[in-house]
Amino acid sequence: MDWGLKNRLARIINPINGKAVMLAVDHGYFLGPTESLEVPRKTVRPLLKYCDSLMLTRGVLRTSVDANFPVPIVLRVSGGSSIIGEDLSNEKITTSVKEAIRLNASALAMSIFVGAKYEHNSLVNLGNLVNDAEEVGLPVLAVTAVGKELEKRDARYLSLSCRIAAEFGAHMVKTYYCENFEKVVSTCPVPVIIAGGPKLEERKALELTFNAIKSGAAGVDMGRNIWQSKYPVPMIRAVRAIVHGNSNVEQAYELFKKLCSERPAPQTTPSQQPRPPQQKPTSQPKQNTQQRPQQKPQKQVQQKIKPKIQTK
Ligand code: 5RP
Repeated sequence: MDWGLKNRLARIINPINGKAVMLAVDHGYFLGPTESLEVPRKTVRPLLKYCDSLMLTRGVLRTSVDANFPVPIVLRVSGGSSIIGEDLSNEKITTSVKEAIRLNASALAMSIFVGAKYEHNSLVNLGNLVNDAEEVGLPVLAVTAVGKELEKRDARYLSLSCRIAAEFGAHMVKTYYCENFEKVVSTCPVPVIIAGGPKLEERKALELTFNAIKSGAAGVDMGRNIWQSKYPVPMIRAVRAIVHGNSNVEQAYELFKKLCSERPAPQTTPSQQPRPPQQKPTSQPKQNTQQRPQQKPQKQVQQKIKPKIQTK
């Protein structure tokens, strides 16, 4: 593999443990101002230091992310349909590779729609994008099975989609978790990363994360289950504890509750603030999650951790 491509890939998937925590905030490209992502800058800012990379469009990158914060960018470059339009699968490449380089993207992301009306176009788009991206050493993340295709959330369909993405040259594939996920991972020759999907109760989202990692997923590219939580920072830290810290569901959920109890819920008046989830008084979470370096001037409370791997 080309040095530049390998190096960029290493910014997204930690080469030491093969794992990644990506924060997905690209939803607006077909959903507009999605709940809790109405003002992307506000949503993204507190979460930045806990993700390994940020997945978004150029519009949100330029307007809502501080260029001085060195978070690796996975740039969504496909689009062209909206949630109220005729067919979500009708996408084209909307952002050029040249623009991605100008924005210092570490990887490109685009959707494919296997089994949908515009399947053919989306797959040809992927092949062409890989051709162009590899010329400049940019890896490509193929996002499979969104919109209506999500109804077909089983190992048979997701294996088909992920495998086709890899055959077309995608360097990473993003899909949804399903039962028998081992099959999806084992039949896809490139790393498989899961999306979180619609918002779940936090413990359930941590379970999903844990099961995906246990089944061989290389990590998460999660959106709603992080920033639609009333406690987005505790949530991303708990997810991180599973992906990078080998925490189990119980440990991650205990960490989530502990972190919730230490902070008020954001974006509410005091009288509206939800009660943080009750923490078990006796058990202490295993605090072995890893964090990104400090984003100045915010203060970071260092966890007493013994990292097993090095993160950026
Ligand atoms: C949509 C996307 C989203 O980034 C993806 O769905 C991840 O977000 P969530 O965890 O909210 O499902 O690629 O095409």
